[in-house]
This record gives sequence, C-alpha cells and structure tokens, in this order.
Amino acid sequence: MTVRVAQISDLHASPEAGWFNGNMHRVMEHLRGASPDLVLNTGDLGLFGERDNGDLRLALEAHGGLGCPCLFVPGNHDVGEHPDIPGRVWVDEASLTRYRAQAGADYWQHDLPGWRLVGLNSLIVGTGLPGDAEQLELLREAQSSRAGRSLALVMHKPLCDLDLADPLISNRFTTLQARRLILEALGARGAELILCGHVHQYRDLTIAGTRHIWAPAVSFVIGDPWQPSYGAKPVGYLEHLFHPDGRHEHRLVTVRDLVHHDLALMPQVYGDVTARGPGLA
Ligand SMILES: [Fe+2]
Ligand SMILES: [Fe+2]
Repeated sequence: MTVRVAQISDLHASPEAGWFNGNMHRVMEHLRGASPDLVLNTGDLGLFGERDNGDLRLALEAHGGLGCPCLFVPGNHDVGEHPDIPGRVWVDEASLTRYRAQAGADYWQHDLPGWRLVGLNSLIVGTGLPGDAEQLELLREAQSSRAGRSLALVMHKPLCDLDLADPLISNRFTTLQARRLILEALGARGAELILCGHVHQYRDLTIAGTRHIWAPAVSFVIGDPWQPSYGAKPVGYLEHLFHPDGRHEHRLVTVRDLVHHDLALMPQVYGDVTARGPGLA
C-alpha cells in the first residue's frame, strides 16, 4: 500500500506573538480535509520555543484532530541552536528535556511498506548532550538492518547546500563536523532521501546519489534579495507518496488563503534581517 505523507515545517507558532498562527491553523484545516496517512513535522514548531514558554504547546495542540499519526523532529526554535553556530541561544539539557516532555522522542525510526524513515535531532549531533550518541547508534542500526527497504532521513536542517565537504559555518546547514558524524553513521550505503525544513524554501536536489528535498515553511519566507535563493520561496507544504516498491514521489502543495509573510518586512519578529545585507539574512 502506498503511504501518503504530509510534510509540514516551520510553523513558528506562539500564543503571545501570533503573527504566523493563522497560516498554521489554515494548513491544519486543509490537512483535516486532505486526510494524509501520516504527518511529518520537520521542526520550528515555535517562534521562540527554545525558551521556556507556551510556543511548543500551542503548535502541538494544533495537530489535534488530524486523525493520523504525527512525527516530529525538533528545530532550532524548539530546542535551541547547535553550539557550532556562534552568537545564538544554544541547545542544552533543559531545553531538550522540555521538548521531549512535550513533543516526545526527538529521534526515532518509523517503518512504512518498502521504506524506513529515521528522524534525527540535527541540533545535538556531536554535542555530547543526552541522546547524541544514542541517535547515531539508532541510525547505524537502522541502516544495517533495513535489508531491501529504502531509507529516508528526516531532520530540521539541510545537510549542506551543494557540497557535502563544504566547511562553511552557517546557521542554515549542518556544519562539517556534525555532517561527517551523520554520514559516518549512515555508512557507504547512504540514504535514498533526506527530508528537511529550516531554510523556508522549497528545493529538490540530488547530491552524491541522495535526493535532498526541502519543505517550504508554513509561516513565512525571507524575500529577495535578503536571503539567497537556494530554491523557491512559496509558503505551503509537501505531499509525499512512499511506494512499497521503494519508489517515492512528492509534490508541493500551496493552500488557498495562506498569507505570504516576508520576514524582511517584519522586523518586529526576529529583528531587522535586512541589516545583514542582501543575500545574508
Ligand atoms: Fe524556521
Ligand atoms: Fe530553523
């Protein structure tokens, strides 16, 4: 049986600062009609969910009534940023504990006919924080025991832009050290597919035999020229079809009445992202 999966990402919900809550509720309403078999949420549930507030709770509650299982991986705005990235609020034990208590496991394995999905917490790779070693072990084990299944990794941050050996330290991608640990645990067989969010752009690119698909955000984009265009900048979500013979298809779904928020025009949210200059936000 083919499994129809809705991948939603980057809700950035907040009870106090609800700029993007309308888009979240609109997509949830749409999903209740679309009735997917499974929802994958690739993180940034909250606007500032890395702080101790009600952001995660609001976003998690919005998934109620979807009538299907939901799987989550955390974003930097759910548990904090990876410590490789300077000048940010970093992930720590307290934020991880808060996230796990509310959203459940931050790394997991989920099998579908013909497929094995492995969810990873991309914010803790190589940090030594609780779960770091365990999730890489889970990935090794998932890889070695998958037999004929195709493998899809599900994580918040894209592994890289174009080059797996890129040493650039950027909040946008996993850094080289963390990337190497993930690739090492994956081993020579690699993965067929990597699904992520975080950049708030839609992209579909094959790198070294693996297809990397980025989900657009539900919440907002950073409009040209303030964020480089890696792909396209819609708001919406992705529908994936996982076939039992190991094939996969996907399509971009845009939803009527979503507001195309542009963070570059909303300094009240995360500060003035245009201050860093064109292409750097
Ligand atoms: Fe985000
Ligand atoms: Fe993010």
